[in-house]
Amino acid sequence: MKFFLDTANIDQIKEANDFGVIDGVTTNPSLMAKEGVQGEQAFKDHYVEICNIVDGDISAEVVATDFEGMIKEGVELAGLHPNIVVKVPCIREGIKAIKHLSAQNIRTNCTLIFSPGQALLAAKAGATYVSPFLGRLDDISTDSIFLVQQIVDIYKEYNYPTQVIAASIRHTMHIVQCLEVGAHVATCPLDAILGLLKHPLTDIGLEKFLEDHRKLNA
Ligand code: G3P
Repeated sequence: MKFFLDTANIDQIKEANDFGVIDGVTTNPSLMAKEGVQGEQAFKDHYVEICNIVDGDISAEVVATDFEGMIKEGVELAGLHPNIVVKVPCIREGIKAIKHLSAQNIRTNCTLIFSPGQALLAAKAGATYVSPFLGRLDDISTDSIFLVQQIVDIYKEYNYPTQVIAASIRHTMHIVQCLEVGAHVATCPLDAILGLLKHPLTDIGLEKFLEDHRKLNA
């Protein structure tokens, strides 16, 4: 399973990239706003900066909601860097846009997926990725991991090449559960990835090893 970092924060992207286990980055308009990125040129520069840090797929989201607007933005975003994947919302115009962009060999990530039916339409349109949002389903007492499993199974059964990015990951258990059901990618906050490292027996064990070494080498 690949790890994408779900942020537009340059410092975190650099830190995660240095850590060495990051395969890409996903952004969205809310994450860009959080970093104070304002204006069309600033957005483009920010995406290029991310592409220059991480050698992997970088999702950049369109903000138009009409077909023509999505295509125009999608083509512009894809032209910024070969690693850009155009993120498109799972709405009627979005599915049409994904079909059109795919025909031009522009890779897409269909976002805001909350049901297997949405994932099916995105795959049929030729989406490179779909992004089901786990945390937001859990927020409304819905089993998000079951949705990931359903989508993975459907794609396998019908041989769709579309890959599943588990998004809106909130904690380490989400990551482990995504591994168990065969998600292709988990896009996570850095804290959730680093959280996988934590185990008290590792800390206790290391302390004991170092203590024994110190005793004999004092
Ligand atoms: O990748 C989607 C993600 O950024 C949404 O996360 O925590 O706002 O549901 P959240």
